[in-house]
Amino acid sequence: MFTYEVYNRCIRFQSEEEFEMAKKEALKKGSLMPMPKALVSCRYNGEDNALAVGYCGNCSYDPPMVMVGIVPSRYSYEMIKESGCFVLNLPAKDYADEFMYLGTVSHRDEDKLKAKNIRTEDGKVVDAPLLADCPVNVECTIVDSIMTGSHHMFVGKVEYVHADEQYVDEDGKIDFSRIDLL
Ligand SMILES: Cc1cc2nc3c(=O)[nH]c(=O)nc-3n(C[C@H](O)[C@H](O)[C@H](O)COP(=O)(O)O)c2cc1C
Repeated sequence: MFTYEVYNRCIRFQSEEEFEMAKKEALKKGSLMPMPKALVSCRYNGEDNALAVGYCGNCSYDPPMVMVGIVPSRYSYEMIKESGCFVLNLPAKDYADEFMYLGTVSHRDEDKLKAKNIRTEDGKVVDAPLLADCPVNVECTIVDSIMTGSHHMFVGKVEYVHADEQYVDEDGKIDFSRIDLL
């Protein structure tokens, strides 16, 4: 747990004169790169939807967990929060147009999946659609969440991973080097 005492211990209070470095101070926002390009699909109240996310990543190896950061103003936010599950889809380069569309248009304005004829399949474990033309789809149930600021980070327990057959070896390992990820 990070307390005020711990914070004080790690911060170096220096005057401007003391602080001399060859590097230039840069913006704090979005300082971790490269940012993943994933698509989160969800289902709630009879509606299916998907949005682009850059704020996501692995967050536990054992048990396998991923996290996705959703801004509360997104239409998908309530869908994900209320349904308690989502699918994290990894698009390849040939899905760039769909990715940008799902990342710039809101379900509030149109049914994105229908409007762009985006192929979906039902999840095997969770009640959410997976994007059939993405080579990897990770079905998750939400086990925890934290409001970090602009984003609400949902921690998803990995329930099932689908991958196009040609990328999976006999042990079930995905050869990501052979997928031309976006
Ligand atoms: C490259 C890229 C990354 C994005 N990353 C996120 C993200 O991590 N979290 C988020 O809530 N929105 C993110 N967005 C914005 C949403 O995908 C976008 O607002 C979308 O239209 C929301 O759809 P919805 O209102 O139907 O849920 C990103 C958009 C792009 C293009």
